[in-house]
Amino acid sequence: MANFPKDFLWGVACAAYQCEGGWDADGKGRNIWDDFCHEVNGHHVKNDDSGDIACDTYHRIDEDIALMKAHGIRAYRFSLSWARIIPDGDGPVNEDGLEYYSRVVDKLIESGIEPMVTLFHWDLPSALHYKGGWLDRDIVEAFARYARIVAARFAGRVTKFMTINEPQCIAMLGYGEGLLAPGYKLPDEDVARIYHMIALSHSAAQREIKAIIPDAQVGIVPCGELYYPEADTPENREAAYRASFDLSVARWGFHFNVCVDELFFHGYDDTAPEAVKRFMATVPETDWAQMEKPDFLGLNIYNGPAVDAGGSIVKRRRGAPLTACKWPITPEVLRHGPINMYRRYNVPVYISENGISCNDVVFLDGQVHDPKRIDFLHRYLLELSKAIAEGVPVLGYLQWSFLDNFEWTSGYDERFGIVYVDYDTLRRIPKDSARWYKEVIETNGANL
Ligand code: BGC
Repeated sequence: MANFPKDFLWGVACAAYQCEGGWDADGKGRNIWDDFCHEVNGHHVKNDDSGDIACDTYHRIDEDIALMKAHGIRAYRFSLSWARIIPDGDGPVNEDGLEYYSRVVDKLIESGIEPMVTLFHWDLPSALHYKGGWLDRDIVEAFARYARIVAARFAGRVTKFMTINEPQCIAMLGYGEGLLAPGYKLPDEDVARIYHMIALSHSAAQREIKAIIPDAQVGIVPCGELYYPEADTPENREAAYRASFDLSVARWGFHFNVCVDELFFHGYDDTAPEAVKRFMATVPETDWAQMEKPDFLGLNIYNGPAVDAGGSIVKRRRGAPLTACKWPITPEVLRHGPINMYRRYNVPVYISENGISCNDVVFLDGQVHDPKRIDFLHRYLLELSKAIAEGVPVLGYLQWSFLDNFEWTSGYDERFGIVYVDYDTLRRIPKDSARWYKEVIETNGANL
């Protein structure tokens, strides 16, 4: 049996580009994911899929919220499409776009579901991108203005905001390794510059939101590699902590502390690579006074490696469990990840994403049976409850994702939903896991 705090917020999460569709509806501008998917001979995405239609949540939001309500969901973390609200990112506001989200917020509240708004989940307006995007300091003011416009419209209705989803995927995977939009392969110094612009943008947005909504809780959502101890000894725990935040590795940019350390500590420790140090030396002193510590951190945690007491990664045993997209299944990371993040930053956390892709199919009986997802979520939640028992203030858990959706460069091949989507008919079929999760919520985790 697992114990969760009385007010623990149980919910689900999704992002605009992954589920909305309506890519050119009602005045929406283009964003870099529209461009990336449609680039002639780009073939960046499996089967040349795109988010043009996705789950068509843009037109089916009432049905989706009704389904959430039927499954006892208490919070919905969703992102806004910046280009739907401000088509070119820093110009005139598209009232229809803003009104759409305003209706979503009303509908959620009416249904007893708390809206948790993410301002940015990777879909940068193309016009801003061509002006320099995250490499350009002007983005800070553009993002702050966007936050101001959203906060003004949502005041009195929304208090939980997440500014930027996964700076690590934006900077490292999008601009450094070229895997995600815009598909650039820039040197480390530029990647460090993007992290810095994101830290400044988060801070400016946080200030704007709080000026308009004084009781708002504002967070940022990092991701990357968090390590867990192979054995539960003090030495091994210490090694996992150190490894989690050590930037002296090739993929330095894929660590939870990148960007976040700028907000909390105004820079990086000595483990940072030379290129990062060179960039940091160019940062004007006045920038540090601009940094805002988030009220909470949203942690997107899916898996992580085990380390031994010496800090070396432990090789997984042959045949160790994997998800459909071949990610290792490592429930312990949902215990030690939050413990280590809280130890480092000392602010409450939400698990803002956690879930599994499975090869889900509709069975002969018309239902979608997904025992592997249930087992995955069960194991991870048990580990999370141990972090809570050790005193980590975990405020909520947002399962990724409510619906199957557009899984970025994997297109529609990976299904993370607790609700199945038939992409031909757009019909939704709640999976067994949706009913199971309802019980978890109803019992506040006591059934685990
Ligand atoms: C992202 C989601 C994504 C999920 C599963 C996270 O990195 O925020 O957009 O779908 O992982 O890959």
